[in-house]
Amino acid sequence: MTQRNRSGEAKPSGAGSTEIDLALFGALGDLAQRKLFPALFHLEREGLLDPATRLLGLARQDYDLEGFRKQVEKALKTYVKAEELEREALARFLARLDFIQLDFTKPDGYTAIREWRQQGVLRPMVVYLSVAAKIYGDICRHLEASGSLDEQSRVVVEKPIGHDLDSSAEINDAIGAVFPESRIYRIDHYLGKETVQNLIALRFANPLFGTQWNQNHISHVEITVAEKVGIEGRWGYFDEAGQLRDMVQNHLLQLVCLIAMDPPANLDADAIRDEKVKVLKALKPFTDDMLGRDVVRGQYMAGTTDGHGVPGYLEEEGANTDSQTETFVAMKTGVANWRWAGVPFYLRTGKRMPEKLSQIIIHFRQQPHYIFDPDQRGLASNKLVIRLQPEEGIALEVLTKDSGLDKGMRLRRGPLHLDFNSAFPKTRIPDAYERLLLEVMKGQQYLFVRRDEVEHAWQWCDNLIAAWADRDEPPRRYPAGSWGPVASIAMITQDGRSWYEDY
Ligand code: BG6
Repeated sequence: MTQRNRSGEAKPSGAGSTEIDLALFGALGDLAQRKLFPALFHLEREGLLDPATRLLGLARQDYDLEGFRKQVEKALKTYVKAEELEREALARFLARLDFIQLDFTKPDGYTAIREWRQQGVLRPMVVYLSVAAKIYGDICRHLEASGSLDEQSRVVVEKPIGHDLDSSAEINDAIGAVFPESRIYRIDHYLGKETVQNLIALRFANPLFGTQWNQNHISHVEITVAEKVGIEGRWGYFDEAGQLRDMVQNHLLQLVCLIAMDPPANLDADAIRDEKVKVLKALKPFTDDMLGRDVVRGQYMAGTTDGHGVPGYLEEEGANTDSQTETFVAMKTGVANWRWAGVPFYLRTGKRMPEKLSQIIIHFRQQPHYIFDPDQRGLASNKLVIRLQPEEGIALEVLTKDSGLDKGMRLRRGPLHLDFNSAFPKTRIPDAYERLLLEVMKGQQYLFVRRDEVEHAWQWCDNLIAAWADRDEPPRRYPAGSWGPVASIAMITQDGRSWYEDY
């Protein structure tokens, strides 16, 4: 692959190089300020940005370049730890920034992007759309019509891609009319998290797990993604979406895919994504009779977080007081194939839980014949605990003999623990966006979601949403600061199991 400068000189580039022009739409928005600029800054600090890479901020607001740089600096001071905000790196980073004010929906003004690209060497351009999905199509069209793109340009889009299968197809069609699939990067930031990546290493590099990872050895799988925060001033967006669309359709289903997929032939993007799609296609659909038993929808009421009173969902700013949108969902589902037949996957996610906690627990089956104290029988199985946040780590719970002369052959359960922060103390765990941005710059797609993944995930969710609509039942209330409606505990105890809460 080659790049050209304006006088036609060839310049080598391609996968692996981070020498690009990045055009960030929505550069003054919350995501850009809170996550994207800090992530780009960390890449700068670690020497991972090519010296020639340029960053163009695009926003509707009327800023000049100096005002824009000041605003980015302010965001970095807020969201990057003071000891990491090194002066030289900061100066280098701010000097890369350019700014263009633009009304994204109107074609006028896009030629300024083409002109910006033409200053100096033509590099591949990454277009990052941190804006509402309904204008993705307009932006792509105007970029193309203005001659701002070439055959190497890539586009990055954020979730939510649509509200259901039909709306997501419409958005994907609009992007696809300009960019081929091989140059579309759909973000699910969970795929950039260190431990999520580690799932691939853990499963496919360790023969120990390779042979055990199926229904012969695993009794059930549990995934909890709990957030302490409420909806953080996003009532308008959230009330349209709800927890199923906001968290399950993307993040939790991606975790299910990485746990349940068959080994890919290699680490190529399509080899991995082909296997994930097979899992999504095999997800069990919900039938009406399963709804009352295997799915719980909840909505938080006023309660207490960290000792402070917090309002209920219906009392949040801008709330519509009779909303029935769910802020919590728990469900029992499964993957209908040979590897996973009969293995329940219990998923649970909610806002205003007692703590921020994302973890996956693989529960292994008990020994076929048990020889220890009968009253300890319930202890006797292994669990693999994969903690995504707050402290990333992996623990394998094993049984050993309790020590002491008076203990006989009493068993004790304890973790073989790999806490990343203490095992690798000098390694800073990068934020998901750092890794994702770096992969886009290098042109590597394996951490991004392919169109058919999004669509199969929507299909499965749409089926559940339609079944809920038929039932027309209000969500169950739970106090903020609790683990959700008690019905979610009943859902799992009906199978003689409980949610795993101590790590
Ligand atoms: C986003 C959701 O995708 O993920 C938010 O829209 C949610 O509602 C967030 O708070 C959670 O991400 P993380 O990385 O904090 O678990």
